[in-house]
Amino acid sequence: MSGTCVIGLQWGDEAKGKIVDLLTPQHDIVVRYQGGANAGHTVVVGDEVYKLSLLPSGVLTPGVTCVIAGGVVINPAKVIEELDELVGRKVEDCDNLLLSDRAHVIFPWHFAEDRALDTNTTDGENIGTTQRGIGPCYRDKVGRSLALRLGDLYHDEFAAKVEHICEAKNPVLQAMKPEGFEPLDAAAITKQYAEYAERIRPYVADTTDYLLNAVEDGKRVLFEGAQGSLLDVDHGTFPFVTSSNSSGVGVASGSGLPAKHVGHVLGIVKAYSTRVGGGPFPTELHDATGQQIRDQGNEYGTVTKRPRRCGWIDTVAIRYTTRLSGVDAVSVMLLDVLSGVGELSICTDYDLNGERSRRFPSHVDDLRRVKPVYETMPGWDQDVTGARELGDLPAEARAYLKRVSELIGVPVEYASVGPERTQTIAVGAGAL
Ligand code: GDP
Ligand code: IMO
Ligand code: MG
Repeated sequence: MSGTCVIGLQWGDEAKGKIVDLLTPQHDIVVRYQGGANAGHTVVVGDEVYKLSLLPSGVLTPGVTCVIAGGVVINPAKVIEELDELVGRKVEDCDNLLLSDRAHVIFPWHFAEDRALDTNTTDGENIGTTQRGIGPCYRDKVGRSLALRLGDLYHDEFAAKVEHICEAKNPVLQAMKPEGFEPLDAAAITKQYAEYAERIRPYVADTTDYLLNAVEDGKRVLFEGAQGSLLDVDHGTFPFVTSSNSSGVGVASGSGLPAKHVGHVLGIVKAYSTRVGGGPFPTELHDATGQQIRDQGNEYGTVTKRPRRCGWIDTVAIRYTTRLSGVDAVSVMLLDVLSGVGELSICTDYDLNGERSRRFPSHVDDLRRVKPVYETMPGWDQDVTGARELGDLPAEARAYLKRVSELIGVPVEYASVGPERTQTIAVGAGAL
């Protein structure tokens, strides 16, 4: 069991990219297995900041093979854009990239459907999607009749299939009236995607076969989760979720590798909470403290630049996702952002209709109604961005980590005090 899995335990943007980049040298292969270009993973190497949406964060480490597996929905234009940007910035080793021929492809109609449906939910509140066509592409995948996979781009019937889909989609889209909609032009789309197909041809492969062989050969695989477990389509805050299994349950289906190859699940959490888009957020702060966290944490979306909603850490939610994703240990990120915030609140329980519980509600209406029960702890004013070991942190910060760990039920493996690789504290077992 040589695989490691990095999973977000909140609503995304937990700084998974930083940890994947950090752990990549101990692995041979890094795999993205769900989601698509809705992700925005930031990796900081010295003065250079890389924002990756589709390419695995391992791409910045030479010699490592990066795989975009069958569970991902691929926008080929975005793959090309990210490859060009990396090569333009002198990252030489983009040859070791494999794109699954089973991965479903995002087409212009998916963007149009995303625009039309996001503001038209049964719930009344907008999901606030990233508008990257993710939900519509996954819907077509599950619906089967109007879906195209990467492998289809290289088959003779590709043009006829695009034409068939455009004929089916045009009248529906016309009725849905997405903003700025122009009828789909099958010939133009075919031509454009044929060009993309040529450009990415060297990377397209049967990645399931590749990965199955790799684990048999003893290769070490790092699975890079996108989004966070609370955005999981089956287990998250439905319908305010993404359209894939972004908790640990998605690793096997998305990668094609049996779950037994995951030896260690590392959950990633922020030292507080954030959420982008709609949906319930029990510990959200609408006050000056929320704004202070947003400013100090630069909490604006990597992909959409939207201000992220900010709040206190919620250990009811994290304990739930820790258990759901089979997490062995957590990495607590952005601890430095809490410096100077004052007294810190930790949500330990929910009060639902006068009853106190640690169960994370399955229905969104209950989650909207819960009142978080808080425990408070003293904060710290010191700048901790220079801390490199546990002993460099103020006692209050160590006590905060310890309490969070106790409440969610797993040890802390790393604490992060800045975006750079070096701004990471390895927390030894039992050290807190
Ligand atoms: P991801 O989607 O989970 O990879 O996270 P994002 O990249 O969307 O957001 C995390 C942001 O926090 C990025 O801008 C990172 O560079 C930054 N970051 C990562 N770790 C730390 C940290 O410990 N402290 C601070 N201040 N920023 C961090
Ligand atoms: P990373 O990998 C934070 C959110 C969107 C929206 C909902 C559905 O960077 O952590 P979608 O476009 O997927 O249909 O949007 O999910 N969302 C994310 N929020 N981080 C992400 O990815 C996200 N990917 C999707 O804001 O609320
Ligand atoms: Mg992100």
